[in-house]
Amino acid sequence: LGASVIALACTSAYAADLTVGFSQIGSESGWRAAETSVTKQEAEKRGIDLKFADAQQKQENQIKALRGFIAQGVDAILVAPVVATGWDDVLAEAKEAEIPVILLDRGVDAPQDLYLTSVASDQVKEGRVAGQWLVDTVGDKPCKVVELQGTVGSTPAINRKKGFEEAIADHANITIIRSQTGDFTRAKGKEVMEGFLKAENGGKDICAMYAHNDDMAVGAIQAIKDAGLKPGSDILVVSIDAVPDIFAAMVAGEANATVELTPNMAGPAFDALEAYLKDGTQPEKFIITESKLYTPADNPQGEYDSRKGLGY
Ligand code: AHR
Repeated sequence: LGASVIALACTSAYAADLTVGFSQIGSESGWRAAETSVTKQEAEKRGIDLKFADAQQKQENQIKALRGFIAQGVDAILVAPVVATGWDDVLAEAKEAEIPVILLDRGVDAPQDLYLTSVASDQVKEGRVAGQWLVDTVGDKPCKVVELQGTVGSTPAINRKKGFEEAIADHANITIIRSQTGDFTRAKGKEVMEGFLKAENGGKDICAMYAHNDDMAVGAIQAIKDAGLKPGSDILVVSIDAVPDIFAAMVAGEANATVELTPNMAGPAFDALEAYLKDGTQPEKFIITESKLYTPADNPQGEYDSRKGLGY
């Protein structure tokens, strides 16, 4: 016990000396806001000095922030990359300065030796889980699906689309009839869904709406109600994140399924970073978080209550 107490004391004293820069995408969704607060709480708990930069959805702001962190000589950088491409140069600059970079919740199209690790979900799997839920729910019935995509060029938008398409590929009765970006926001989700409803006979031809995140689904639910239809029954609603508001929609009978994405990417990221900086322990290149399906059968009121306040 004595040795482990000493080890613990050393770890926290060590963490207290760390300065970490965090380049966050912005606050486009409830999930994103929760990730930001959980990351700040995790840093505080560990005595890490977190320098936070909000990029307002712009990659150029993220690149600027990363260069600022490098100039300050931070011990490490966390970045949630808004889009997949365009990171090679700045990541190479961080590597050159011997500053480890950890990717949070989204991936990059860049050589893997330019970052220490990536903490994220398996986004293709998330799409597959959502698609499989629809396959199991509609059976052999014909089902026309409209899709609200996330931010163009972001890995969750690319991969969640791919996974869903894989799941429905062998089911000719299920077809995606319209697919457009709603940029992961509630407002855009509503606006794009309004367009889909108008284009598809007021929504009467739509069987299901698949959104790449819950916020867009919540916006779309409003549009469906405004069009005089019942979300959750006239049009099935399936999405990703498991934020409190989608559980509230399930309680109201207006949403049918969501796939959980934990907002706590920082916990595993800081664990990996502290071990690496302490004795060179190399983390796994990809630290994958869980993708659990929730439906109204999974106590949505309880899920709402337990999540509300956890940074949401
Ligand atoms: O990268 C994760 C995605 O980004 C979340 O699903 C979404 O809500 C967010 O904006």
